[in-house]
Amino acid sequence: MKGKIENLPRHIGFIMDGNGRWAKQRGLPRLAGHRAGAENLRRVLRACGEWGIKYVTIYAFSTENWGRPKEEVEGLLNLLDQYIDKELPELVKEGVQVRHIGRMDGVPERLQEKIRQAVEATKGNERLILCVAFNYGGRAEIVDAVRKIIAKGYKPEEIDEDLISSHLYTAGIPDPDLIIRTAGEMRLSNFLLWQSAYAEYYSTPVYWPDFDEEELYKALLDFSRRERRFGLVKEG
Ligand code: IPE
Ligand code: IPE
Ligand code: MG
Repeated sequence: MKGKIENLPRHIGFIMDGNGRWAKQRGLPRLAGHRAGAENLRRVLRACGEWGIKYVTIYAFSTENWGRPKEEVEGLLNLLDQYIDKELPELVKEGVQVRHIGRMDGVPERLQEKIRQAVEATKGNERLILCVAFNYGGRAEIVDAVRKIIAKGYKPEEIDEDLISSHLYTAGIPDPDLIIRTAGEMRLSNFLLWQSAYAEYYSTPVYWPDFDEEELYKALLDFSRRERRFGLVKEG
């Protein structure tokens, strides 16, 4: 970790992109890139913990990613399964609370169970809240929220922004302050659409498996220098 930074984000969202390109660059199969990406997660989470970041959301698998070749999809599902087995003890020890955001429908039963176990085993932890966006889509999330609200019988005049926020998967979690996307793309790809209305965006060409402590430092430093206005006029 480098020198102190004044203005740190409370909540960072990571769009962990570029695993495939990282692998291709090395003449390796795409899955090797995903494996390297999963390894990297440990390093980045630890660094976030050291910076005292309270909330981290990681985009692990989108509702659109089901459209990838079957072997890749299976590989990604297996990787999450293995990741939970391997990392859960450390997550518990490090005080990380795991939350899942996304749809459980469509996720193999065995993996659903494992995700529930990870959530259950860490629910008392408070040092860092880790939201795992898995089978997640920002639009699907809004659709699900609307369904819940209608099912509860709310009247049109009772519907406001707070009500919608409190029916999203992220209910109770503050909106992200900073969205970091690796591998250079300048798009959200259906990530936290509602929640990131006033997030600051940071995009780096570095592929996710190479995004290390130094890269995180650069992103945090960049964020700390942004002026967030939230549509208002700066005083003075
Ligand atoms: C991100 O890496 C991981 C997931 C989307 C699951 P990609 O697999 O999208 O890597 P690129 O974009 O092809 O390099
Ligand atoms: C976004 O990356 C999804 C995840 C990082 C899980 P993609 O690689 O799927 O997004 P696009 O296709 O470049 O928009
Ligand atoms: Mg990609």
